[in-house]
Order: sequence, then structure tokens, then C-alpha cells
Amino acid sequence: MKTNRRTFIQGLGTGVVGAWASGSVVAAAPAPAVAASWPIFDAAHPAAFWRAVRASYPLLADPLYLNTGGIGPVAQPVLDQMIATMYQLQQHSETGHDLFEPARVTVAKFVGAQSREISFVRNATEGNCIIAGGLALTAGDEVIFESHAHPGGSFPWYNQAKLRGITVRLFEPDSTSPEANLARIRALITPRTKVIQVSHITCTTGLVMPVAAIARLAQSQGIWFHVDGAQAVGMIPVSLNELGCDSYAFSGHKWLGGPHETGVFYIRRDRLADVAPTYMGAHGAELPFLPGDLKYFDGTMRHEYGTRNAGLITGLAEAVRGQTLMGRERIAAHGRELATVLLTELSRIEGITVLTPRADDMRAAMTTIRHARVGAHKLFTYLLDEHRLRCRPVTEQGLEVVRISTHIFNSPADCERVINGVRAAARAL
Ligand SMILES: Cc1ncc(COP(=O)(O)O)c(C=O)c1O
Repeated sequence: MKTNRRTFIQGLGTGVVGAWASGSVVAAAPAPAVAASWPIFDAAHPAAFWRAVRASYPLLADPLYLNTGGIGPVAQPVLDQMIATMYQLQQHSETGHDLFEPARVTVAKFVGAQSREISFVRNATEGNCIIAGGLALTAGDEVIFESHAHPGGSFPWYNQAKLRGITVRLFEPDSTSPEANLARIRALITPRTKVIQVSHITCTTGLVMPVAAIARLAQSQGIWFHVDGAQAVGMIPVSLNELGCDSYAFSGHKWLGGPHETGVFYIRRDRLADVAPTYMGAHGAELPFLPGDLKYFDGTMRHEYGTRNAGLITGLAEAVRGQTLMGRERIAAHGRELATVLLTELSRIEGITVLTPRADDMRAAMTTIRHARVGAHKLFTYLLDEHRLRCRPVTEQGLEVVRISTHIFNSPADCERVINGVRAAARAL
């Protein structure tokens, strides 16, 4: 078989490397003898399905992992895809940039966007920075976001406050109703408000913001609406074109289970021209030779530039393919069911307060608790050292709480361990 560059690249994009690697031009990559495959749901054997899901992760059993909100582990098919792509690209010393396009189609479809509306970035923070730095803002212009924003969502704006003199206006998230959050945002709007940003799901208490309603509010006032979806995509189904925001950024390496250092950034088709690219280079514009008039690519991919690691991108596309096969709704329902058990049972423990909202439409798969007598670090350390539970201490905004993430590889038995551990913490600390 004669392998030219195109068939080589196509081979990498298929998800299984072995077929291409049997070509005579290059030695086969050391991919697993049998490529790992995704578990397929069988309604007759749901427990077997969830066991197979867990088994598809190389993630060790100890400590029990409950921090997908921090970083999501990858499943074996993602790891295989990523490593095989990187290995084969190195065998040819190719960058593999052509692999971005099929991956873009896969990811865009998954999040309900057109492929030219998304670009591959390194993390959600990078997408947030592109918006903060790229919108035409001047001194005194105002941006509204919630006080619980992650530094990856707030620092890009505080940086613009330093660089361009914009003003940050914060609202405290309200855990009682979506309408209350809408009202808090509305109350901060002034004639100088140029941007509203929210975390789709807050990293502190796992509160789900009413993003569609906020999009309508922002649109009615001619205000740019940006969503930091780092905690949302992969935890709950998200359809960007339906949501109505102007821009959205999310991590690949959390709930989607993509490789570390993957993120996706979306700008709605008709808003593309409003975001000036801060970085520009090869892959961002059509300009083979200088001098000339720089013509940006007609899509959000104009924000990609320079040499990248295509293995990360094919790994991310594989993670998306896996979630599609396992079922977006099923994944969301599983994480929520486990979180509901935690919310219910942990609320009953004396000395423990659950900060995650009760309302069904304001929570998903993260549960945050406060201990009456000790702070975040002490509770976190106790749960890890004494009960082998890897949660996440949350100290942002002086909250002093611990966050528990429940994803597809977690089980009801894991929840039992958490409940027992927290009960013990309430007694012992
Ligand atoms: C709401 C939110 N935004 C941004 C980030 C940063 O994500 P990344 O590391 O992908 O930039 C996080 C990480 O926890 C987050 O929870």
C-alpha cells in the first residue's frame, strides 16, 4: 500500500490507528493490540454498562476520585487516540494540523454549533481571555459577572481593568431561584454596561445559571453575553446556537474527559467581527505572502495560530465521540442522580451544611458542603487522609467549603463512602 500525506492524515482521523499503521511506508505505532472501545448502553443490563464505563478509565481506585470539576480523567480510548496520533505524527515529523477540521465538525455538532463558530484553544481561560481582550471596550465601560467566578473567568476582566480601565461589577449568586439571579444582574445594568458574563455552572457551589434567560436580557439591552462553560459541557447537554449567547468557552479536560490542555471557544456566527484577534499567525488568516492586506479566516478558527499538538485535538474529538455513544442525557442523569443522593443525605448530617441549590433547575452534578467548625483545608485533608476521598477544597470568596463532583465513572457505592466519610468528619472534627 502506498501511503501519501492525505491517506496518512485520514487514517489518523478515524479513531483507530491500526488500519493505517499496517501500510508499508512506516512501522506500526505501538497502539494497544486491541483498541479500547466505548461501552454501549444495554437497557437489560444497566449495572453492567456502568461497570464497563468505570473499567474504561485507567484512573486508580485509590483515592476515590471526586474532582472532575477540577480535572477530568480520560478514558482509555481517548488516551489511545491521543498517544497514537502523537506517535504517528512524530514518525513522519508532521504537525497534523489537517486533523483539526474533522475534529471541529465532531465537536461543533456535539455542542449544537456550526463548525466555523468554534476554535480549539488550550483551556476555558484562553477563550475567556480572547473575549476580554478582543471586545472594543474603553475606560469606564462596565462588565458584570458573578462573585463566585473562577480566576479563569474573573482575572481576564480584572486584567482589562488594569490595562484599559474597564469597571467590574459583581453580583452574589442567589441559590434560591433562577429569577433572583436574573434580577441581580438586571439591577447592575447601567448605560455603561457592555458585557455580562456568567459561569454556566459555578465552580464553587455547582449552581446552574439561567443562561437562556440571561441571553434574552442581554440581547434586549444590546449587551454582549459571554458564558464561561468550563463546568458545563460534558456534565449537562449544551446546545450553543439555541442558548442565544454571543460567545462561550469551555474546557475539554474536565467533564468531557478530553486530554489535559484542551478547550473550545465559540463565537456566534454573526458576532465574529466584533472580537479582535489578539494573537494572529499561520492558521488564522489567508495570507501566503507579505506584504498584503491581512484577511482573517471567516470563522472562529481565526483565533487559532501557530503549531499545535494535534494529538490533543484528536483525543478531544474521541472524548466527544465517546460521550455521544454513551448518551449525553444518560451521562447528565447519572451525575445528577448521584449528586441528588449526596444532597439529600449530607443535608441530614448535623454540623454539615449543603450550599448547592435545592431547586432541580439550579443544580447538576456537583455538591458543595460546609463543616460547622472547620475550614476547607481541614475537611478536605481529613476526607482524603482518613477516608481516601479526593474532593476539592474551595476557598474562593472566603467560602471554606468542599466540593464533590460525581461523573460517569462514579457509582452509588462511591456516594455511600462519601456519606460515611462526611458523617465521620462531622463527629471527629
Ligand atoms: C467556571 C470555571 N472557569 C474557568 C476554569 C478554568 O478552566 P481551564 O483550566 O480550562 O482554563 C474553571 C476551572 O475549574 C472553572 O471552574
